[in-house]
Amino acid sequence: MGSVLIKNGRIITAVDDYFADVFIDGERIAAIGKDLQMDADKVIDAKDRLVIPGGIDPHTHFDMPFGGTTSADDFETGTIAAAHGGTTTVVDFAIQSKGESTIKGLDTWHEKAAGKATIDYAFHMIITDMPQERLPEMRKLADEGITSYKLFMAYPGVLYVDDGTLYRAFRQAGDNGTRICMHAENGIVIDEIIKEAVADGKTAPVYHTLTRPTRMEAEGVYRSIAIAEVAKVPLYIVHLSCADALEEVKRARARGVDVVAETCPQYLFLDASYYEKEGFEGAKWVMTPALREKWNQDVLWQGLAFRDLETIATDHCPFCMNDGIKNPERKGKELGIESFTKIPNGAPGVENRMSLIYNGGVVEQRISLNRFVELTSTAAAKAFGLFPKKGTIAVGSDADIVIFDPEREETISVNNPCTHHMNVDYSAYEGFKVKGFTETVLSRGRVVVEKDKLVTKGGGSFVKRALCGSLLR
Ligand code: URP
Ligand code: ZN
Ligand code: ZN
Repeated sequence: MGSVLIKNGRIITAVDDYFADVFIDGERIAAIGKDLQMDADKVIDAKDRLVIPGGIDPHTHFDMPFGGTTSADDFETGTIAAAHGGTTTVVDFAIQSKGESTIKGLDTWHEKAAGKATIDYAFHMIITDMPQERLPEMRKLADEGITSYKLFMAYPGVLYVDDGTLYRAFRQAGDNGTRICMHAENGIVIDEIIKEAVADGKTAPVYHTLTRPTRMEAEGVYRSIAIAEVAKVPLYIVHLSCADALEEVKRARARGVDVVAETCPQYLFLDASYYEKEGFEGAKWVMTPALREKWNQDVLWQGLAFRDLETIATDHCPFCMNDGIKNPERKGKELGIESFTKIPNGAPGVENRMSLIYNGGVVEQRISLNRFVELTSTAAAKAFGLFPKKGTIAVGSDADIVIFDPEREETISVNNPCTHHMNVDYSAYEGFKVKGFTETVLSRGRVVVEKDKLVTKGGGSFVKRALCGSLLR
């Protein structure tokens, strides 16, 4: 592996902002300084560009069996799309099948990803049951670099676990120095509301949001925080979507509970009115939690600016509308044409996150440039045992670097070859204009995208994560 010299760029980390050159020797950053005179195999001129740590998306679902089908991006297409969008690490979700060992689930996800990824990847483990006798598996997972676990209060009969299971897994995770990721929504009550709606013949996509009140998300956040507090485990609320839920996080943090929360671009830029589009189109945005009333967006942006929200992930989980174009043999959203209850939950976005947040955050002056880097990279690295290997630009860190053009404007579209490499037949952000765009991407020293072109395919590796306990110590 060779060396790369990035010259004349403006380096932005979560805390720094300065002009310097970066010298990469093999996989790591070897030197940072003014006018570096090293001989390098490749020189990249980053004049008028930002040089930022590669994005870390701590919430993706590649090749995920869900909703009667499988998500449309696998580790090959998903990581290529992520790279184009300036993301150099994803933390995806391996799934334990009920009654089977989590270690078996991990092996399955290693097989899905092996040899396919263009950027680095790690795994959280989705736990679907955890009887007392299997708790030692969680220690084994941590030794394998799986140091965070997702549990669900939603999706009864599928991924849902009861409060006893939550408590057992939380206790063990806390003892092990690992972290719990929580899908916090009261799925049991929501299922009752759904039954009432269906009995009344309310089956259109808009009923997805109308049957999932924000109060039921807030209740899940409150309850999981209370259980985590008693079980003494650091908690990470995934895909927080609304003001009601954020209020519970703020309240808990104010009394010193170790809880942080993630939101996603869909909750910052899209809203419940999308479900009212003509015919079945609203199915594109059937995801869980559902899109909320627009006024929630300002509250979430404030949460990001004032540090009540810690990270921005995509929850990338794409399903085609399926006009048979992209994945003729794989079912998509059309599974729910008769009833919103059968629409596979999830939407695409892994490729669009960095531009959306730069534009909506920095250009529109809601967050600083440093906070942009923190929210899209550094904070996830810290929360999930990847820092300082990833999430910053420093001597010794992996050379995961994005050369970002702060002036370039693009319109996000399924038809724009610069903004759509995802294996899905629509864009959740169709027609959104963004300023700020990824130009060149290095993953552990390899140039993978150069001036929009994929120049290296493959080469991404599994990252064994360190323990990721409290962010408070
Ligand atoms: O709708 C979503 N979010 N699909 C993926 C599964 C999950 O709950 O994260
Ligand atoms: Zn979830
Ligand atoms: Zn998810």
